Amino acid sequence: MADKRTIRIGLLGFGVVGQGVWKNIEKNRQALEYRLGAVLDITQVVVKNLNRERGVQIPGEIYSDDPARVVDNPEIDIVCELMGGTGAALELTRRALSQGKIVVTANKALICEHGEELFKIAHENGGHYFYEASVAGGIPIIKTIREALVANRFSMIFGILNGTSNYILTRMEREGLSFDATLGDARELGYVEADEALDLDGVDAAHKAVILAFLAHGKWVKLNEIICEGIREITGDDIRIAGELGYKIKLLAVIARDFKANQLSVRLHPALISKSEVIAGVDEVYNGVSVTGDVVGTTVLIGRGAGQDATSSSVISDIADAVFMLQGAPKAAISEEDEAVYARLADGLELTAPEDLEGRYYLRIHVQDQEGVLAALTDLLTKHHISFATVNQKELSDGTARIMLTTHQSRESNIRAAKEALAGLNIVLSPPVSFRIFEPEV
Ligand SMILES: NC(=O)c1ccc[n+]([C@@H]2O[C@H](COP(=O)([O-])OP(=O)(O)OC[C@H]3O[C@@H](n4cnc5c(N)ncnc54)[C@H](OP(=O)(O)O)[C@@H]3O)[C@@H](O)[C@H]2O)c1
Repeated sequence: MADKRTIRIGLLGFGVVGQGVWKNIEKNRQALEYRLGAVLDITQVVVKNLNRERGVQIPGEIYSDDPARVVDNPEIDIVCELMGGTGAALELTRRALSQGKIVVTANKALICEHGEELFKIAHENGGHYFYEASVAGGIPIIKTIREALVANRFSMIFGILNGTSNYILTRMEREGLSFDATLGDARELGYVEADEALDLDGVDAAHKAVILAFLAHGKWVKLNEIICEGIREITGDDIRIAGELGYKIKLLAVIARDFKANQLSVRLHPALISKSEVIAGVDEVYNGVSVTGDVVGTTVLIGRGAGQDATSSSVISDIADAVFMLQGAPKAAISEEDEAVYARLADGLELTAPEDLEGRYYLRIHVQDQEGVLAALTDLLTKHHISFATVNQKELSDGTARIMLTTHQSRESNIRAAKEALAGLNIVLSPPVSFRIFEPEV
């Protein structure tokens, strides 16, 4: 039998994910190399601070703070960008792809902001850019959409793509804790990113939604074109009332395509979702994605959305695809003709303007607890073409009350206008809060 080819891998970054990749390749080396028919050699490891303590010991001669030893090294077959951020990572990814290298990444922020350019560079120079670990950690959602479900057109993809916010909402629901108390615990457990907006304002999950939208529909959407709202405004009362009405509140990414109208809606926001939906049962730090294709129907994937082992599992899966490609297998992804067909998926595809969305809503309004309040609210909402389906009221000890209502089908633009008008009423004590009710139409 011919000798196995040695595949040389360079790691840019040796933090949580980088060390996981090293550790798990070592752990399962024998089975992995047998399956791949190749020897895996991590030839270079690059970090920023050479003095930092690492949990994993590696030979000193392969360890440096010089990215050129990976990016510009002709011996390196696969570059793994596990640094994060959109600064040095962008420049180094550009440089590697311009040289026709294969780059594997877990960097969702970079793909979301610069994916269009980076895939183009890869394509023009014969390289390849793999990104399974960038969405939903260990869940193989990229391969599922790109390969396993290739026969489908996707009318609806939705799910939970941020484990930290899901952990916070789960604890608020189960233990009746406030947002602030739960956030404190999440910080102590190291679940919250240094830049908290990524988790709490939905930015991290929105990055992933943009990547899924591109993957499924061939269209790059800008973050500033979509609804991106986080979980900071959710209170224990909202979760309790939602529960009484048969819903859970989850931070959902939604990628909905109307093929007839050729419209695409991409959004990220908290939503009330029926407890009967599988995704509503995805709790704690887990992620879950529901994919509806016109051939397969609905498939739901649930798993660990982050963490060292889950994320490195996806990185190693991309390394495996890269190894097959280097050994002459046809590109796991797409040939040039296929790419032209793929690009046509987005022909004429328009992004639905956020204000044109329609659906049911939950509204929370803090009011003076006095006669005629409900009539005044009803009057104002009716003027904005909003009718309500349920009303709950909670009297507070300071002579005020919280009104929590759900609406019938309404337009986003009407809800926005109504909230503005409500905020101007004397009886309304603070700006009203609304959440969408998510009902997947497939
Ligand atoms: N952690 C997760 O659960 C997870 C899940 C999914 C995706 N991701 C993504 O995976 C990527 C890596 O995340 P992580 O959690 O592993 O981050 P991390 O623990 O902060 O590790 C980052 C690594 O990159 C190195 N680095 C940063 N800037 C560098 C530079 N300019 N030159 C050379 N090395 C540099 C750091 O070096 P020093 O150690 O010397 O500072 C560190 O080793 C990110 O894109 C992240 O979004 C992470």
